[in-house]
Amino acid sequence: MADTKIYQASTTAPVNIAVVKYWGKRDPKLNLPTNSSVSVTLSQSDLRTHTTAACSSSFPQSDTLLLNSENQDTSGARTQACFRELRFLRSSIEAADPFLPKLSALPLKIVSENNFPTAAGLASSAAGFAALVRAIANLYELPASPTELSRIARQGSGSACRSLFGGYVAWQMGTKTDGSDSLAVEVAPASHWPTMRALILVVSAEKKGVSSTSGMQITVATSELFQRRAEVVVPKHMAEMEEAIRNKDFEKFGQVTMKESNSFHAVCLDTFPPIFYLNDVSKAAIRVVEDINKKAGKTIAAYTFDAGPNAVIYYEEENIAVVAGVVKGALGHLDGWESRDISAQEAGDLDSRAV
Ligand code: DP6
Repeated sequence: MADTKIYQASTTAPVNIAVVKYWGKRDPKLNLPTNSSVSVTLSQSDLRTHTTAACSSSFPQSDTLLLNSENQDTSGARTQACFRELRFLRSSIEAADPFLPKLSALPLKIVSENNFPTAAGLASSAAGFAALVRAIANLYELPASPTELSRIARQGSGSACRSLFGGYVAWQMGTKTDGSDSLAVEVAPASHWPTMRALILVVSAEKKGVSSTSGMQITVATSELFQRRAEVVVPKHMAEMEEAIRNKDFEKFGQVTMKESNSFHAVCLDTFPPIFYLNDVSKAAIRVVEDINKKAGKTIAAYTFDAGPNAVIYYEEENIAVVAGVVKGALGHLDGWESRDISAQEAGDLDSRAV
């Protein structure tokens, strides 16, 4: 009798916020970056994507993807690359074991939900592709490590490779042309620095004006500052950041985080025509953080901005009253999320499998 069983697996992947930014591709097809980057993965209980991957011969023939109840196009090169790589790995284990069901040949049905506004420009593609890749890897029972899966998630969206780990994660740019060494690795687990907190201020929930993908393409083609950033500034920041994380040195962590964000937005401004991601409220948030640090006499808060105006402010638990208090006093009209505890869960804790 034909097997019409529905096989399925679920997982979640959290958002990650870069403290050394990825901006620029040396190979747009394979999503290979021009520089390495580092991020902090937020806790699963904060901002995350929950994804269920299912496959069955009873499903319609083509693969489908539903995000927040809306049908998404799965024919794009990035989604296709992830499906192809995962199917290839599954077919290799099926070839070695004739008793395994031939899941690699079945159509996929993916259902994803974000617990935050998808349009808010809050690294939704990072959590989205990380959850998609991990859910299918679970469905296919692939014996793949987070680093191996990061190579696949990277092809969906560069920053997604970092969301396969909790805590502090580096995406090593690699040097090979096939991308096999462009992978995410753990710098330290979340539990290493349990007092770290992030405050996210939603300055605007509108979809960003210039997408990361096209923004970085124009930067690479037109910015003269960009080369210096990729070759000199980022390698220095990478070394300083990894050391700051290892030593739990918030002053250093905070200073590099802020300089990195500024350097990234400087190359955006140096892009021609210029790209403006920060608005007046973003700049007000920078001033508030500067005031907090000035009053404290040291760096106790650090801002960072991705390809949009929303601010992420890192601080340590002991400074919650000063940092969150002052920020709310000055910018309290904005929506926000306060991370409860970045260390609460490592990525993938909520994995479940039902076959
Ligand atoms: C500014 O990962 O969204 O957030 O690879 O084209 O999907 P694609 O780009 P994406 O770019 C993220 C850029 C950033 C910095 C970062 O997360 O490192």
